[in-house]
Amino acid sequence: MSKDGVEWRWSCFRPWEAYKPDTSIDLTRHHEPKVLLDKIAYWTVKLLRVPTDIFFQRRYGCRAMMLETVAAVPGMVGGMLLHLRSLRRFEPSGGWIRALLEEAENERMHLMTFMEVAKPKWYERALVLAVQGVFFNAYFLGYLISPKFAHRVVGYLEEEAIHSYTEYLKDLEAGKIENVPAPAIAIDYWQLPADATLKDVVIVVRSDEAHHRDVNHFASDIHFQGMQLKETPAPLGYH
Ligand SMILES: [Fe+2]
Ligand SMILES: [Fe+2]
Repeated sequence: MSKDGVEWRWSCFRPWEAYKPDTSIDLTRHHEPKVLLDKIAYWTVKLLRVPTDIFFQRRYGCRAMMLETVAAVPGMVGGMLLHLRSLRRFEPSGGWIRALLEEAENERMHLMTFMEVAKPKWYERALVLAVQGVFFNAYFLGYLISPKFAHRVVGYLEEEAIHSYTEYLKDLEAGKIENVPAPAIAIDYWQLPADATLKDVVIVVRSDEAHHRDVNHFASDIHFQGMQLKETPAPLGYH
């Protein structure tokens, strides 16, 4: 049951997981890559953008759906590794396990939303399978070797995500992509008005990405200062 007593229609999230996103978040914040590790992270992401741009061009609905299948991986991997570390070392995580798992869950909800707008074709599903196999393992290894680097990569990936969603918005505003009504699942998850449109959905998703950007750059900064994540309380409570 939801707050107003209506039967809850979603099985992928519960009423208490719905939230109002912070759309006033700064979209332009950028972490200047000064040290070598940051530069490698930055250029890794820039390089990954080239094949993505070639493959999707300006098909932003499709692009968003496909990229969200990747975006939901790092939070789960990082959260899982911190969870295991906490168990091994008999120590608390400072809330970081939950923060990263929340990110993974939020990204998965982005996917559930964009699935309503763009239906994946069989070859896209095959691509997701291959990319997940590679990306999960690469990120897993990367996080084991250097969480500092892994979080920085995600920070930059999120900066790119903000850029892509801004381009998506431009095409929606220019009428190149039809501004269809928002999927029902998005209206319930982000507590949007009943007459919300795809444009409103893209705006709230983009502010989620800006939040992930800040969380991940922050996590990397903590490591850069030679500290463990658990020494600094995690930014919880956004979702
Ligand atoms: Fe996302
Ligand atoms: Fe994200």
